[in-house]
Amino acid sequence: MRTKKLGKDLEVSAVGLGCMGLSHAYGTAVEKNEAVRLIRQAYEDGYTFFDTAECYTGINEDGSISYNEEIVGEALQPFRDKVMIATKFGVHHSPDGLVMDSHPDTIRASIEGSLKKLKTDHVDLYYQHRIDPKIPAEEAAGVMAELIQEGKITHWGISETDEEYLRKAHGVCPVTCIQNRYSMMARWHENLFPVLEELNIGYVAFSPLANGILTDAFGKGAVFAEGDYRNFMPQYKEEAYDANEKLLSFIRMLAEEKKGTPAQISLAWMMCKKPYLVPIPGSRKIERVRENAGAAEIMLTEKEIAEIDKQLDKMEMSGVFGGSPTAKK
Ligand SMILES: NC(=O)c1ccc[n+]([C@@H]2O[C@H](COP(=O)([O-])OP(=O)(O)OC[C@H]3O[C@@H](n4cnc5c(N)ncnc54)[C@H](OP(=O)(O)O)[C@@H]3O)[C@@H](O)[C@H]2O)c1
Repeated sequence: MRTKKLGKDLEVSAVGLGCMGLSHAYGTAVEKNEAVRLIRQAYEDGYTFFDTAECYTGINEDGSISYNEEIVGEALQPFRDKVMIATKFGVHHSPDGLVMDSHPDTIRASIEGSLKKLKTDHVDLYYQHRIDPKIPAEEAAGVMAELIQEGKITHWGISETDEEYLRKAHGVCPVTCIQNRYSMMARWHENLFPVLEELNIGYVAFSPLANGILTDAFGKGAVFAEGDYRNFMPQYKEEAYDANEKLLSFIRMLAEEKKGTPAQISLAWMMCKKPYLVPIPGSRKIERVRENAGAAEIMLTEKEIAEIDKQLDKMEMSGVFGGSPTAKK
């Protein structure tokens, strides 16, 4: 697969693999050996960029906990020096929602836990998963500078950041990339593009398929397992299917024109838009992981992208999932 550069020098496959769904958010976790096989096959197919997080845990069929970092670490061990592993700190799940904690002591404990689970001596890209309002950007960035100096991480990034926080953090320790939500249904972070260009910071796009709806694989009446977040997502509500019909037929048409699939067009649109933009779609099915990798071969011109954006700007569509709530305290 072709590669892209994030920030100054982090070279990654043009499509990365989001590994979260193997453990978390989409029902019972995938059986460990099967998940390891899928990640290794993705590597064989050209992926060199793998995304996980400390808080991506789930429940296995037998009731035990699935730690996504453990799966990723085991899968990538045979070719550790040929891949880039990204993980995240600073978020814990609670029954009331997400709890942010970027206290320096917490980060220190998190990196040790992540290195152990990932069976590695360094993380290639360490993200602050969410901004912690109690910790100034400069303080979190200061800890990142220390971890880089100690060789425990080589690059860092911020997930769901805004411009102000990014500028402050970058001033203390250069940020390699942000990781924010981005898809044809979620374009509200496009206002960060000029800032990223000014500071030479990459953009890793999470949920690039709007949690799968943009692939056109999930028709009206799609049923999801218990514990699958899609049961609560606005784009999967009964009424959303009609609201999104225009968007999906537009994507189908583009796919036909470019001899690709709707998933590939959705990814190619963002990959060709900016050289520093890298999507990290996730799937439990190897044939879909391979299909998504194929998006790197579809080329759209600047003019074609501008035309698609123009259509999207005036397209009526349903709401889209914007993230889990934050715990009140
Ligand atoms: N930083 C953050 O806060 C944050 C938040 C969310 C996610 N992420 C990262 O982003 C990654 C991807 O995000 P995501 O899982 O939320 O959304 P996504 O990649 O937009 O969508 C994943 C869903 O799409 C389906 N899918 C993927 N490729 C497909 C294809 N070619 N055809 C049909 N269906 C396809 C998958 O179903 P099947 O498994 O059934 O194929 C899965 O349910 C995660 O793995 C995680 O690493 C980060």
